[in-house]
Amino acid sequence: MKAVLIKEAGAPENLYLGEWETPQPKPHEVLVQVKATALNRADTMQRKGMYPPPPGASPILGLEIAGIITAIGTEVTQWKIGDKVCGLIPGGGYAEYAVIPASQALPIPSNLSFEEAAGVPEVFLTAFQAINWIGQLQKGESILIHAGASGVGTAAIQIAKAIGAKVFVTASKGKHETCLQLGAEKAIDYKTENFQEQVLAYTDGKGVDMLIDFIAAPYLQQNLNSMNFDGRIVILALMGGLTATEVNMLPILFKRIRIQGSTLRARTLEYKARLTKDLYDFAWERFETGEFKPVIDSVYDWTEVVAAHEYMEANKNIGKIILRVS
Ligand SMILES: NC(=O)c1ccc[n+]([C@@H]2O[C@H](COP(=O)([O-])OP(=O)(O)OC[C@H]3O[C@@H](n4cnc5c(N)ncnc54)[C@H](OP(=O)(O)O)[C@@H]3O)[C@@H](O)[C@H]2O)c1
Repeated sequence: MKAVLIKEAGAPENLYLGEWETPQPKPHEVLVQVKATALNRADTMQRKGMYPPPPGASPILGLEIAGIITAIGTEVTQWKIGDKVCGLIPGGGYAEYAVIPASQALPIPSNLSFEEAAGVPEVFLTAFQAINWIGQLQKGESILIHAGASGVGTAAIQIAKAIGAKVFVTASKGKHETCLQLGAEKAIDYKTENFQEQVLAYTDGKGVDMLIDFIAAPYLQQNLNSMNFDGRIVILALMGGLTATEVNMLPILFKRIRIQGSTLRARTLEYKARLTKDLYDFAWERFETGEFKPVIDSVYDWTEVVAAHEYMEANKNIGKIILRVS
């Protein structure tokens, strides 16, 4: 089969379309003819040699796919050849064929194209895990979502809104309109405004009940200062840096703040299956009615994978960047 391969770890130009062995489904897996895959920051890190795939996973980039089942493993009962599915995979999405554990495949909602469906799994599973499982956001509570126009951010806004929470986001100014249309009450331009001051002003000085963070070190103090009593901070990435210095920890104790980090790729098969099932129960009807939608920034043909990676690394996207595989 054809697949996007990496000449050597480094810049986007090192990606090229080459030949690779077609994977075969194990007993609990299905083989999917990939119609579309989506970019993730993890792909850019893996391309640079900074994020090796977990043991047993395909070395090919690509953590999510949408396509058509062409073969099923001997123990798979819930899918048949011809079903249209999307889902999370541990690697191998930038290819004509990819295998996916049957328990991680989801039916493509009837109103979504392959390109749109490829933009659903990673960001909605991540946001659902952070908000519903870890942060346990409740109706009437408030949440601050950093990088609100990121793929994960756009899914998080929709989920938090559906729960009945008040949503605040930070994002570059030009991305505010999308966040507000998705359901955010206020968008803060973190480049010109102090988000801590804004959040406290919007919450009558109380702070938010939950916060999703991708920036980490440079935001830690302001994040702590932006929390309400019993607030939950979920850290999903460290895009701003690893090392925080001179942090006043008093709010953690005084306000009983909980901080938890999380990743998705390294979770067990069983964990991801449960998460997939719970997301399906929570979200699939909402996709069918149009209440939830993946926010697609752009669709590239997979022959343009170099340009797609460059675009993501320029932080220009609002929502997902998709690769059409043909
Ligand atoms: N832990 C997990 O389970 C998990 C799962 C999925 C993704 N992630 C991680 O979550 C992060 C967001 O992923 P995504 O796919 O949603 O991202 P994305 O769509 O590429 O969006 C990232 C956005 O973050 C904003 N940003 C703010 N500060 C930044 C900084 N210092 N460096 C880079 N970007 C910055 C930029 O938007 P503005 O112009 O608004 O600043 C940028 O466009 C990534 O780091 C990804 O690896 C984690």
